[in-house]
Amino acid sequence: MAAKVMIFYLICFNSLFLLISSKKENQKTIFDETTLKHLKLKNRIFRGAVGDQSFINGKISEEGFKLYDQLSKNEIGLIFTGYTMVSDYLQNDKYHTFRFDKDEYIPEFKKLVDIVHKNGAKFFMQLAHIGMNTLSKSEIIYAPSSLPIPNQNRKSKEMTKDDIIRIENNFANAALRAKKAGFDGIEIHGAHFYLISQFLSPLFNKRNDEYGGNDENRARFLLEIISKVREKVGNEYIVGLKINSEDGDENGITEEGFLKICQMAEAAGIDYIQISGVKWIKQRIDNLIYSDIGTKLAEKLNIPIMIIGGARNVDELNEIINKSNIKLIGIVRPLICEYDLVKRWKNGETKKSKCISCNTCLRKSPGICIFNKNKCDRKIAQPAKFQSIQLGEYKITYLPDGEGYTIPAFSYHGSTEEDWKNLNEYLNNEGKSLMSMGSFLIEYKNEKILFDLGIGKIHFSTPEGSAEGGELLNNLKKAGLDRKDITKVIYSHFHPDHVGWTSIEENDKRVLTFPNANYYSSKNEWDFWKDKTNEPIGINRKLFKEPLEKKIKFLNDGEEIIPNLFVKFEFGHTPGLINLILNADGKRMWFISDMVHSDLQFENPQWCFFTDNNEEKAIKTRKNAFDDLSKPNTIIANSHFVEEAFGYLKKEGEGKYKFERYTK
Ligand SMILES: Cc1cc2nc3c(=O)[nH]c(=O)nc-3n(C[C@H](O)[C@H](O)[C@H](O)COP(=O)(O)O)c2cc1C
Ligand code: SF4
Repeated sequence: MAAKVMIFYLICFNSLFLLISSKKENQKTIFDETTLKHLKLKNRIFRGAVGDQSFINGKISEEGFKLYDQLSKNEIGLIFTGYTMVSDYLQNDKYHTFRFDKDEYIPEFKKLVDIVHKNGAKFFMQLAHIGMNTLSKSEIIYAPSSLPIPNQNRKSKEMTKDDIIRIENNFANAALRAKKAGFDGIEIHGAHFYLISQFLSPLFNKRNDEYGGNDENRARFLLEIISKVREKVGNEYIVGLKINSEDGDENGITEEGFLKICQMAEAAGIDYIQISGVKWIKQRIDNLIYSDIGTKLAEKLNIPIMIIGGARNVDELNEIINKSNIKLIGIVRPLICEYDLVKRWKNGETKKSKCISCNTCLRKSPGICIFNKNKCDRKIAQPAKFQSIQLGEYKITYLPDGEGYTIPAFSYHGSTEEDWKNLNEYLNNEGKSLMSMGSFLIEYKNEKILFDLGIGKIHFSTPEGSAEGGELLNNLKKAGLDRKDITKVIYSHFHPDHVGWTSIEENDKRVLTFPNANYYSSKNEWDFWKDKTNEPIGINRKLFKEPLEKKIKFLNDGEEIIPNLFVKFEFGHTPGLINLILNADGKRMWFISDMVHSDLQFENPQWCFFTDNNEEKAIKTRKNAFDDLSKPNTIIANSHFVEEAFGYLKKEGEGKYKFERYTK
């Protein structure tokens, strides 16, 4: 009997095993080889277009070449260039984007193609006309209709029939150039409210002629481009389309309209459709936002369908590939964040992308992730090391909090409670401290003052060993102190936005709080925050009552907390930005606490707290700040500067400093 039962179980187990293994065999994965028309691809993943910023005087910069070299070495099957202008370059002259409006650029792009091909990836060029989605001051801005250009006191020009024909030809000529340069295909950029997308969208297309009024007419410009391109490049060459499936507005393109336009594009000879929209610009996304509409479209059309937007999780990618007829899935921001992500996934890692879809790489520092220093990096400024120095009667120790990441995006004006929540969640998952923000310990007689550069209570007051506390408490022990030995803590604490406060606490009791920004960017901002705080705002409360449209200056002289040690607000508007000033022989030593403290600040002026949207000025101001380091007795220190500043002081001789009581 027992033997029979045993045999029964064995049979069941074997059939189950066979069932599972045959299912597995039938399963697709994103790492399967595949084809697009005649083109063999090593997998189903593509890096979608990322506007290149590296075309300077007809040449691609070194960094531009490096970026594509790196991407193509990291297991991405198909790579797209960023949008490449087919004409009217002046309409988009601000960002050194790629252009292919002249034959003379063919050799340069050929070099790029050769690099990508050598590394085994396929390469498409995305062609675009920017339309009225422009920042340029160019005299004429061509668009489907004459509408006010955002942030500019003027209107676009409604394109005439001649303009339409010219730009259609520009697309066709650029496509031929791309073919000559060796690209494996081209993609017509019909998404994201650039010119073609403006023609397609009722939001921008207000025409009453044959190019407006209904979906068929709105699609005419696109369809004419497709057939002119096809005429130039022939039937074998791959010509694709990226298109909005939604315009983020109920008056924009409808689902029905979208499906109809895709069918017309297929009939006009397009080889694939890549589905996008504007959701990824407006929302924080972390899943494949176009998988449903992609599934639907793939059932309707015979050509391959690709989706892009929200690919963060390799398991989800595999699931969608199996559940639908979607052929390829695109990834963009995660590869700005970690260019080797696909390779690591291929090697079995299943960790979700680190990208938090904050869009800083889109808006603030194009192509550069908040986690990285440069475009081609995957990494991450290192914090300075634990170190002490005796300056006169003051012993100053830098207490790092371990490796972490700055998340400046969260400090931007407009970030929300939700952002803040996401940040904490993210950091918890990563096991990281809030930021890699070290703190300064200042020991003077019996005073042990912690200038906590972390975000306030989070650093110092979090339970030992918790991620938010970073290494701070361990490093405090290294300095021979315990938490209870600290006599004063100075820290900034703020809501997840622009506005913050600095507090000084003695024995856990707040003795002084003052606002941490010298102005609010608008009255609305203040109105928003003023009722949301119970903070016992101290000496500067009255300042908030002043007209807030004006910039408010305060704390000009600083607040002295022990002899010669002043806490002072200085420049800028970054939350958490406070200074400690140690007065040395009438000259100042600065300790700057700021939120955005990684190397980025110094490489990218737009990150820097000196910035006032004037890049040149920002660089100059920063340079002056560096120059200050060479002046005796002056130090500018945040965790970025610590090594340099302490090094300088040590070289000069620690004993040399004499501190006298500061007089105004
Ligand atoms: C910095 C940056 C530049 C982009 N440039 C382009 C572009 O030139 N052409 C384009 O079609 N999409 C562009 N996109 C959009 C992406 O191709 C993609 O559709 C979007 O980032 C959503 O995908 P993701 O969630 O994987 O990032 C850009 C996105 C970013 C972040
Ligand atoms: S800057 Fe933000 S959106 Fe861009 S790659 Fe980095 S985390 Fe993602």
